[in-house]
Amino acid sequence: MAIVNSENDLMEKIVSLCKRRGFIFQSSEIYGGYNGFWDYGPYGIEFKNAVQQLWWKYMVTTRDNVVGLDSTIICHPRTWKASGHVDRFSDIMCDCKDCKTRYRVDQMEDPTTCSNCGSKNLTPPREFNLMLKTYVGPVFDEDHVAYLRAETCQPIFTDFHLIRIATRKQLPFGIAQIGKSFRNEITPRNFTFRSREFTQMEMEFFCSDEDSMKWYEFWKEERMKFYTTKLGFKSEFLQYHDHDTLAHYAKAAVDIEFKYPFGWGELEGIHHRGTWDMSRHQEFSQENLEYLDQLTNKKYLPTVVETSVGLDRMLLATLAQAYDEDKAPTKKEGMDDDVRIVLHLTPMIAPVQVAVMPLSKKLNEKADALQKDLCNFYRTELDVTGNIGKRYRRQDEIGTPFCVTYDFDSDTDNAVTVRERDTMAQERVSLSNLRSYLDEKIYK
Ligand code: GAP
Repeated sequence: MAIVNSENDLMEKIVSLCKRRGFIFQSSEIYGGYNGFWDYGPYGIEFKNAVQQLWWKYMVTTRDNVVGLDSTIICHPRTWKASGHVDRFSDIMCDCKDCKTRYRVDQMEDPTTCSNCGSKNLTPPREFNLMLKTYVGPVFDEDHVAYLRAETCQPIFTDFHLIRIATRKQLPFGIAQIGKSFRNEITPRNFTFRSREFTQMEMEFFCSDEDSMKWYEFWKEERMKFYTTKLGFKSEFLQYHDHDTLAHYAKAAVDIEFKYPFGWGELEGIHHRGTWDMSRHQEFSQENLEYLDQLTNKKYLPTVVETSVGLDRMLLATLAQAYDEDKAPTKKEGMDDDVRIVLHLTPMIAPVQVAVMPLSKKLNEKADALQKDLCNFYRTELDVTGNIGKRYRRQDEIGTPFCVTYDFDSDTDNAVTVRERDTMAQERVSLSNLRSYLDEKIYK
């Protein structure tokens, strides 16, 4: 029974919950924050790691045709010359001269008027490169400029050859990487949706040109399946959106869009990149990057099909799907039901999977021993303060699927009460069965 009133309301509630409970908050808050940069707190990092691991398992560990990479953030500057980022990775921006609001021109409803103050006194549109620059070495001049990577895929292309030789993989196969990317976005907005520092999870699948559309369709479906089966998203919150215009080298490109609280927006892209990246790196490095097909004895540059998603965006979408407010019955007679905030996160990704609660302070030691055992298998927390109802609410709010209460009977019947988050149903489970009970519910 959701009682969130409007979609904007929902966004505000998510931002507030994230800060209050230590999921996500502004970087450098004591200095007034830093626009486009976000920190993940104690629950946030557990949640982020869990989702990241889910993606890695789905895309790499459980497939024999995808391998992993962890490359540096700063690569040889020619990488970004070859990829086209140094010359072309830019947005057009303009400023309102009166109220100083900055705009990305392609996002303005009316590019002649400031939507903040109504002024028509705007600067002429100018190009702005989104690469973040730094210097490598002791001299700070143009010869020592380096770039923080703007996407994680470029090092995959430059390392392709070494990885293929080391793994002795034949085409088709993919290389995946998770890591930080940096873009000097003109207008970071919508919480973590558009940030200046964010984590990307990308997989580049190398294949022959003849097979590339078959693989494009395959990955398009696989990626949608990830959201509905692994993250439990409702299908009406997801849609494909084919790109209106294609790069000259691409045969196809599609976004998986999510219905965020602020409207439909891109969550992930599946891109046919042709041989563009490989041919550019071959040209700029002067290394032969062709692949020798041992069956046909033909040499060719691999065609690439890419799946690319921002982890931060995936987490935001997951929080938006999971957030709910419903009514929890209060035990006090004549009192209205409590409103409870609850995150319906799947048990695999909840920051705390099992909270252990002693019913009374006298039972703290026993509960502590139980939690110390369970923490070897699940993300756990010992929750000792406040009455049990308050503790349930606190755990509901961070999405803990199971609360295990150790009570005065536990010593004699060797059992605990397990309370399930969504149904709020309670079940007596013997301590000897607790592990298999939780395993079945969490990892099924
Ligand atoms: N390698 C292809 C590539 O980077 P992209 O469409 O620019 O393509 C891919 O980005 C994904 O990365 C997006 O779908 C989004 O999930 C995420 N992303 C891009 N820019 C972002 C930003 N400024 N903040 C957060 N996530 C971003």
